[in-house]
This record gives sequence, structure tokens and C-alpha cells, in this order.
Amino acid sequence: MELNDTITREALQPVETENAAPRKVFMKTYGCQMNVYDSQRMSDALSLEGYLPTEVIEDADLILINTCHIREKAAEKVYSQLGRLRKLKDERAARGRETLVGVAGCVAQAEGDEILRRAPVVDLVIGPQTYHRLPQVVRKARAGEKVVETEYAIEDKFEHLPSASRNATRSRGVTAFLTVQEGCDKFCTFCVVPYTRGSEVSRPVAKIVAEAEKLADAGVREVTLLGQNVNAWHGEGPDGSEWGLGKLLFRLAEIPGIARLRYTTSHPRDMDDALIEAHRDLDILMPYLHLPVQSGSDRILKAMNRKHTAADYLALVDRIRAAKPDIAMSGDFIVGFPGESDEDFEATMQLVRDVTYAQAFSFKYSPRPGTPGAEMGSHVDETVKDERLQRLQALLITQQRAFAASLVNKEMDLLIEKAGREAGQRVGRSPWLQPVIVDEKAGEIGDIVRVRITKAGPNSLFSEPV
Ligand code: 5AD
Ligand code: SF4
Repeated sequence: MELNDTITREALQPVETENAAPRKVFMKTYGCQMNVYDSQRMSDALSLEGYLPTEVIEDADLILINTCHIREKAAEKVYSQLGRLRKLKDERAARGRETLVGVAGCVAQAEGDEILRRAPVVDLVIGPQTYHRLPQVVRKARAGEKVVETEYAIEDKFEHLPSASRNATRSRGVTAFLTVQEGCDKFCTFCVVPYTRGSEVSRPVAKIVAEAEKLADAGVREVTLLGQNVNAWHGEGPDGSEWGLGKLLFRLAEIPGIARLRYTTSHPRDMDDALIEAHRDLDILMPYLHLPVQSGSDRILKAMNRKHTAADYLALVDRIRAAKPDIAMSGDFIVGFPGESDEDFEATMQLVRDVTYAQAFSFKYSPRPGTPGAEMGSHVDETVKDERLQRLQALLITQQRAFAASLVNKEMDLLIEKAGREAGQRVGRSPWLQPVIVDEKAGEIGDIVRVRITKAGPNSLFSEPV
């Protein structure tokens, strides 16, 4: 789950409601790609209720914040944003306009009623397992009720959420997320996900294939399968046999129009042979793998309940690289987990040197209420955490730049994604998920074109068509 901070932009067709102007919804999304996906589905559900998306918060009749609870700051950011909404709500009320404020996502799930207490501006709180009930929740809130909907629903939310409308999908571009698995049974001792997203659930093959076909039909060329433990996905294939993620990827590769597949996030324990073989044999599976390890110290890995050692991880990376030599590795790291000594931290630095990452995300440990880590003794000093994070990030950035530099003068396929910031430019995506700038004459949005990398900048690559 990499960090994002996106305002979901959709341009749905207006839905006529019984009286006059359609209502508007402003959505702000924090956190991982699954939240981005969820926000889109909520937006689709709300459009059927007559809510049009807006990017102007002052115009919104409904402000919905889709929150992340993975680390402390994310939740605090939500509370301070809610504080600022009070004024906005009052100003609109003075103009005779009602404004509903809703909190969705993992903070909603974890905090529940507490949100209403801390932020009275809020009218509705809805957890990720109950998004299919959003229309009813909004109706109740409009009738003046304060609603908290965080019970795990027995029914499958995906069964009840409307599937993305063709127009909505079309406006969302040539890359898309598709949730195939949700929740987590791993219970790493630092992580809130098993509590906020619940236990592991896999969506059925037929539903996933149907959704991918719809995306392809709307012009999507690259699909990223999402799950907290996406490689734990399993389901019954049409032949009645048990499928894993590898098999599913092969099936999705048959869909006309889909040119690229990715998946995220994976747990090292669930990388099975079939999935590694998919990396070897399936050309449209992109050579990029986000495989968090969190720490390079066996002692800390054990305390984190990661269920593998550093050597297991290194051996796994070797097997993956043997199958797909040009694969780029990405990872997540936590520094300052309770009890982490200088020696433990050095083991993490060594693991990073051994693996060599093309991309990585690193964080200071932040105790999450209700997780076993928060109850552990020997918490690491903030200053020590800061210093370790700085050293780790310096190393990771050096590796990331070296990887980008290694691509200069190389040819690669680029999926042209959008207009560039400067006139005459377009931005594409490399197989390794980097933004690549190219002249607009190279091709249209959605085209896959061959380019040569001419220069590596700090955040993107520059290229010329070949
Ligand atoms: N403190 C710091 N980082 C965390 N992550 C998850 N929980 C915590 C926490 N309590 C990081 C992990 C995970 C990523 C999504 O966020 O590295 O892989
Ligand atoms: Fe959290 Fe661990 Fe599950 Fe990942 S595998 S979501 S880090 S508990």
C-alpha cells in the first residue's frame, strides 16, 4: 500500500433528480490505492443517488473524506481537516445550503462513534465493509440522523455496489485499479489492517473477469489488481479447480485490450511457484514487484510476526529474479519497531544493500491502538527513529536514482497516460512504474509506444520515440 493523497476526479454524466439541480459530492482520499478504488466505487454509488462529483469543496452538498489509519499522522490530519470544515458548513448554512460531512475508510472503522464526539461537524461515519449501504446512510443523514455504520456486513459489499458505469470508467483514463482481495489474516504486530479491513476475503473469478472486461471495454490498458495481501487471493476457476493469483493473471491476460497487468501488495509468505512462473511466462505482467519486508533483522521480524526470516526473503528474491531477471523490486520498511537495536537496524541496511530496490517506502514505527506492538515495552526514542529513517532513506534514494540512471539509453515500451505539464508533451508509464516524458507526436493516450530514455530526472525519465 503506497501512500497517496489524491482528490478523486470523475466526470460522470448528470443524473436527473426529482427536483432541480443535482447535488454535489466532494471526495478527498487518503491512504492506499484500495482507498482510491473505494472512493471511485462510492462515487459511482452516489451518482445513482443524484450526486455529481465536484472538485470545488465550497459547492459540495456532501463532503466525504476517505481516511487512512495506517500511521498516526494520517488520522490526525483527518481530525484537523474536519475542524476546518466547521466554518465551511456554517458559511453554507448562512446561504441556506445544507452540507453533510462524512468520514469513510479505516479511521471511520477504527474510531466509529469517537469521530462524532471529537468532530461534531460530522454527520455520517461509514467503514470500508459497508460502502454498499452508503446510499441509505446518506438518506438517513439527510433526514437529520447522525449515522455510524461500521458493523461488518454479512453480505458481500461488492455484490451490492453498482459496478463502475462506462462513462465513469472512461473518464478515469487508461490505467485502473481492481480490488480482488480485501482484508488480512496475517496480524503483523504493528498493523491495524486486520482490525480495520477485517479478515481475508477473495472475490470470485467471474466477478473479477467481468469487471476487468468492463474496464477494457472503456479503454483501460493497464489493470492493477489490489488486495492487502493480494497474493493470498484464491478462488474457484471455471473448471472447478482452485486458482491462485498466477492462474488469475493468465486468465485476465486473455481479455482483449488489456496490455499490462500489475498487482499489489504482496506478502513474502504468499509468493507461490505459480505466481513466480507467471512473472516468467506472462509478458503482460509488468516486471515490478512490491514485496514489503519491513525489517532485515530476524529478531524484529519475529517480534513483528512476519512469519519469515531475512534469509527466507533474500532466497525468495533470488528465485523471483531467476524467473524474471529484469524485475524491479519495491518494498516497505519500518524503523524503530519496539526493541529495535542499532544492530537490528544495521541488519535492515544490509538487507537493502543485498536486495537493491528500485523503489521503496519507509516509515517510523507508530504504535496503533489495539495492536500488539503498541503494548510492547522498550519503545525506541523518536530521535533515534528519525536518525535511522534518514539513513535508510538516503540509501534507498541512492538505489532508486541508480536504477533510473541505469535505464538511460535503453529502449522500453511506454503506456501513454496523459498530457504532460508542458505543451507538446505527454506522460507515460514505464514497465517499472516510473513516469516518462515523451513528445506528444509519439502517440495518443492509451497507445503503447517504443521509446529510448534520454535522461533520468529526480522524479521522472525523459525519452524520445524510436
Ligand atoms: N507504523 C509504521 N509503519 C507502518 N506500516 C504499517 N503499520 C505501520 C505502523 N504502525 C507500514 C508498513 C506497511 C505500510 C503500508 O505501512 O511498512 O507495509
Ligand atoms: Fe498489515 Fe501485515 Fe496484513 Fe500487511 S500482512 S496488511 S502489514 S497485518
